[in-house]
Amino acid sequence: MQNILVTGGAGFIGCNFVRYLLEHSSRIEVSVYDKLTYAGRLENLKDVSERFGARYHFVQGDICDAAKVEDTVAARNIDTIVNFAAETHVDRSILAPAAFVQTDVYGTYVLLEAARKYGNLRFHQISTDEVYGHIEGRRRSVESDALAPRSPYSASKASADLFVSAYHITYGLPVTISRGANNIGPFQYPEKVVPLFVTNALESIPLPVYGDGKQMRDYQFVADHCAAIYLILLRGRIGELYNIGTGAEMTNLDMVEILLEELNRPRSLIQHVEDRLGHDRRYSLDVSKTLALGWEPDYTPEEAIRATARWYRDNRWWWQPIRDGEFREYYASVYGDRKVLDPR
Ligand code: NAD
Ligand code: TYD
Repeated sequence: MQNILVTGGAGFIGCNFVRYLLEHSSRIEVSVYDKLTYAGRLENLKDVSERFGARYHFVQGDICDAAKVEDTVAARNIDTIVNFAAETHVDRSILAPAAFVQTDVYGTYVLLEAARKYGNLRFHQISTDEVYGHIEGRRRSVESDALAPRSPYSASKASADLFVSAYHITYGLPVTISRGANNIGPFQYPEKVVPLFVTNALESIPLPVYGDGKQMRDYQFVADHCAAIYLILLRGRIGELYNIGTGAEMTNLDMVEILLEELNRPRSLIQHVEDRLGHDRRYSLDVSKTLALGWEPDYTPEEAIRATARWYRDNRWWWQPIRDGEFREYYASVYGDRKVLDPR
């Protein structure tokens, strides 16, 4: 039996990954360790605890709390740590960067120390394409590219990556790192662009497109990302980095057109607003190294956007309470005074 600690397992990608692990192997036990910030929600794991009660365990805790992390690793007999726990939203990192440095950098260090102390546990770090910074022309980022983060969020994630690599080089910790493109799918907090725009559209509220909307992202379906992470755990080379994405990016305006069409909502909902500070224009990943492990995404970005739009249309029970809660205050702080741009 493998005992995997999934930090941040009550968040969007984490909860999908927990489901993936428990469904794919009866020989895996999962302990979720999560602080339950605004983004971490027990209802994301409700069906998991019902279906896999005997192989699933939940601990509420902060990854910056070394004593609690170590107690959990020892008590649950953990042999593998997969670290999803992070502050994750660029716009929040622009408003208040401190939590990003604390959780994403210091918290990762605490987990690495626990992994080292308890017998050099297998450690996988969930990172992001944003650590490469935005890239020009038609180039794609490869794993050996220099890091060039440009937001407080991506700078924190890049710092964490460097710590993970340093623990491998210095202490021989058996690590891997994956850098994923934008994930979309069930249970994503509606601050990120696709669930924000889908839920706004479902409520007939304008979709605030930053600037000209021609920024490019690779929107991958979360289940594809989870499958790749699992494969890296099984077959990835220790000490290596792996990019995960579809390898096909599109503009934000194209993404909006697709989701409006899927939901049968009018284009008049599109509203261009003042751009994000330091907005990264384009991310694009070369994913050939991960493809070579034998993985392939099942969804194109367009299919992922359509499937995500349908999930939110059909699961209002999940997102309506969120939008009626903390989210309102957040929305007002980011969008309340934002200048609307002239569409001409
Ligand atoms: P999310 O914001 O939905 O979830 C983050 C989870 O971490 C939440 O459950 C939260 O409660 C928990 N958490 C936050 N601070 C914590 C702390 N101090 N201690 C313990 N738990 C804490 O994020 P997500 O979108 O699921 O992202 C998960 C990981 O994937 C992150 O590391 C992120 O950087 C990375 N990533 C995300 C994307 C994306 O598109 N969402 C793309 C690439 C990489
Ligand atoms: P986001 O989901 O925040 O992810 P990323 O970390 O890649 O920035 O945003 C994705 C893209 O959508 C990015 O180019 C910014 C843009 N965007 C908007 O145009 N309007 C919005 O309200 C948000 C949240 C994002």
